[in-house]
Amino acid sequence: MSFPISPVEYNQFKQKLEQYSGIKLGENKEYLIASRLRRLLESEKLTNLSELVVSMDRNLKLKESVVDAMTTNETLWFRDDHPFKIFREKLLPELAKTRKPLRIWSAACSTGQEPYSLSIAIEEFKRSKPGALAADVKIIATDISPSALAIAKEGSYPQLALKRGMGDVHLRQYFTKKGDDEWKINDEIKRRIEFRSLNLQTSYSMLGKFDLVFCRNVLIYFSPEFKMDILKRIHGTLNPDGHLFVGASEAVNGLADFYKMQQFNPGISYQMKAVTAGKR
Ligand SMILES: C[S@@+](CC[C@H](N)C(=O)[O-])C[C@H]1O[C@@H](n2cnc3c(N)ncnc32)[C@H](O)[C@@H]1O
Repeated sequence: MSFPISPVEYNQFKQKLEQYSGIKLGENKEYLIASRLRRLLESEKLTNLSELVVSMDRNLKLKESVVDAMTTNETLWFRDDHPFKIFREKLLPELAKTRKPLRIWSAACSTGQEPYSLSIAIEEFKRSKPGALAADVKIIATDISPSALAIAKEGSYPQLALKRGMGDVHLRQYFTKKGDDEWKINDEIKRRIEFRSLNLQTSYSMLGKFDLVFCRNVLIYFSPEFKMDILKRIHGTLNPDGHLFVGASEAVNGLADFYKMQQFNPGISYQMKAVTAGKR
């Protein structure tokens, strides 16, 4: 079954999705809604999008399923390379010198590739410089999508997912083969990550403070206002001199009072600046 979507229904749904997740659909995305929600409509025995919009307000589970279906969970291992190289070669050696426990936030971690890549980078650093990392490193990995988080927590991936950036050497070192087409991440990599459900629209105060935040390839789905709001609130989660990484096609603009761009050649981060109360 495919279902027609009128302009009125499209606008109603667009507003609802943005209200619940911050995800802002552009023009002419009817095909995306139809392909992602067709099955849900069928299973809920709803005949059109207006009925879905009304039901979402009354039914929390349905609301979560709709948002889940509308998220784009595209991700890769060691995505874009530079942030992981900067992390392993520049920031981690500096942070290790403090001998304090380190905390990293992977905001919008999708199916786990980003936090697991960070954890592998930490493991490699520890192996190459025994004793250099005196204290624990904790990674908090969050996402709004329950189905992506379930995969992340499980830490098992088919070859197809592993082919996207996971080299053979890392695969043999940090995964265990569990079946014909299943590799499970080893516990030494998994144990420093805590996966949690979090909508970036809500408060971050329960997460604590971080030395590094990776908020990559998610801001592109949001309005400029929401993006600004998130970046200001992430600033509030960073320890002094902490760094923020955004996606390769994303930028932190108009927040010169909050962040200083750091050039690593190649690659950049945004280092937090202390902000006076009036600027917040
Ligand atoms: C394209 S993936 C990016 C994954 C990873 N950060 C990377 O760069 O490969 C975007 C993720 O953002 C999540 N997301 C979308 N809206 C969100 C929100 N309001 N709060 C938290 N996560 C959200 C989606 O569920 C999805 O997993």
